[in-house]
Amino acid sequence: MAEEKAKKETRRSFLQKLGIGTILLAFAGNVYSWFRSFVPNVLYEPLRKFKIGTPKNLPDGVKVFEEEREFVIREKEKIHAISAICTHLGCTVKYVQLAKPKKVVIDGKEVEVKYEFHCPCHGSKFYADGTNYAGPAPTPLPWHKVDLSPDDGQIVVDTSTVVKKGTYWKV
Ligand code: FES
Repeated sequence: MAEEKAKKETRRSFLQKLGIGTILLAFAGNVYSWFRSFVPNVLYEPLRKFKIGTPKNLPDGVKVFEEEREFVIREKEKIHAISAICTHLGCTVKYVQLAKPKKVVIDGKEVEVKYEFHCPCHGSKFYADGTNYAGPAPTPLPWHKVDLSPDDGQIVVDTSTVVKKGTYWKV
């Protein structure tokens, strides 16, 4: 009888310890999760500024920077940068050279365009100045700041700084 009672005590004690251990483990897990939430996961932020060489090495036309998702356009002595990130859902828009120039009206002015930007995802289309004119994109492609690095004279494109459409860096 006494032996059976001792066995029950041992089992009860074991189950109590198991229960306490489980509660402590759950608590420790929660505490760990709480502390871990203060440590950010690895961020794969795209480069915000990038250099593209000196102005004399940038020919006229559109240069596509796939990795940075940016277009840099030189028109004689004027250089500007336009985002290649579609304003609909963020796909990368493609540079499309038109078979022949066409006249379009942008902001009430008739201009001749030789290229456009098209989004392969849902068909949004943008004129050469980034103005959206077809598809679901709600806003134009933003223009970004272009400057010259004082260190080495290279053109710096700053994709974190949006500038007004029509803002050029002049060579
Ligand atoms: S992401 Fe470009 S049209 Fe939808």
